[in-house]
Amino acid sequence: MFSRRKWMKVLGAGMSALDGWGQGPLRFPGKRPMLVQNDFPEDLETPVEYFDTWITPNDAFFVRQHLPRPKVDAGSWRLKLGGMVSNPLTLTLDDLKKMPQVKVPATLECAGNGRANYRPKVPGLQWSKGAMGNAEWRGVRVADLLKKAGAAAGAKYGNFNGADHGVAKTPDFIRSIPMRKLMHEATIVALEMNGAPLPEIHGFPARLIVPGWDGASWVKWVTEMDLSEESSKGFYFATAYRYPKFSPAPGSAVKPEDMEVLEGMALTSYFARPAHGSTAKKGSPLRLQGVAYAGENRVSRVEVSTDGGSKWIDAKLSPQNYPFAWRLFTFDWTPSAQGYHILCSKATDSAGRVQPVECPWNPGGYMYNSIDRIGVTVEA
Ligand code: MTE
Repeated sequence: MFSRRKWMKVLGAGMSALDGWGQGPLRFPGKRPMLVQNDFPEDLETPVEYFDTWITPNDAFFVRQHLPRPKVDAGSWRLKLGGMVSNPLTLTLDDLKKMPQVKVPATLECAGNGRANYRPKVPGLQWSKGAMGNAEWRGVRVADLLKKAGAAAGAKYGNFNGADHGVAKTPDFIRSIPMRKLMHEATIVALEMNGAPLPEIHGFPARLIVPGWDGASWVKWVTEMDLSEESSKGFYFATAYRYPKFSPAPGSAVKPEDMEVLEGMALTSYFARPAHGSTAKKGSPLRLQGVAYAGENRVSRVEVSTDGGSKWIDAKLSPQNYPFAWRLFTFDWTPSAQGYHILCSKATDSAGRVQPVECPWNPGGYMYNSIDRIGVTVEA
């Protein structure tokens, strides 16, 4: 039974407090049970066991937003392209639908995924492994829009705003993306996610897809693209989502001038199955499986260890091998010894990068990508 004091605490702290009391994950409309980092605005983590398919279904896809989710009316929504262009545009959803559409499979990961693993702890959402997902996005190339608007040769950035607004001390979410990335054929304004119109929570009616770059650039509910020689001076570009130019000692402060904007993604792999802490039977075959992604590169290899990293064996990679999209890996293991086993996964990519045993600490808690480790007890 809840005491009156506990109820007051729930009402005061928001529903997420219920989760803290062991009530299990709360349900959000259109979502399977998720791990709730925040209930308002919704920040929802995908439980790692959902990562057993190449495409992460929309109802299992993680959610991250800094500000209350806007309600966008498709009829009155407009996308404005302005700034350093010869032909400023105000486009309706129908205008965008009439333009050539391309499909881009790509993995979306929040820069803070894995933050919970850093020591000393870093403030911010304590994502474990599930602030990531892989989807097929469909929409209009940004390069086509820039051509239509007559982008000036001197423009260096597209500054993007969405329909969400700053609230109290939380500023508006505005992101700048350099022209070289905007002109890439896989950078799109998506109208669809996995064959369906973008769900409201993922940016309906249109969001930016910046394949191979961390999620902060993937502006949802996008309404404005302003070309400029200058990048945004706003908090979410000029201050947040910055990474040290050289590794600081864990826990130390880094001067703003020694930080740079995050571009790209870390090479990462995670086990989806078996669950950490689960049990297996000696002599019974068990399939280990997970996902690996490499930002703008491709995953070329995943190795697995069943003895805490002494011996490594190649895992099998799924046939899907696209730039920007993750690959699934599987490894069939028949445990031959009783006891607690530490299973590890380690990815290598097409640029020769290898996942580190321990990735560098940084004050934002971004880009976590240490070799994944889970523990399984093998019973006789
Ligand atoms: N776009 C807007 N307008 N507002 C936001 O707060 N969050 C960004 C990005 N786009 C954000 C946004 C961040 S930090 C991430 S990780 C991704 O959206 C998450 O996308 P998702 O919720 O569809 O998974």
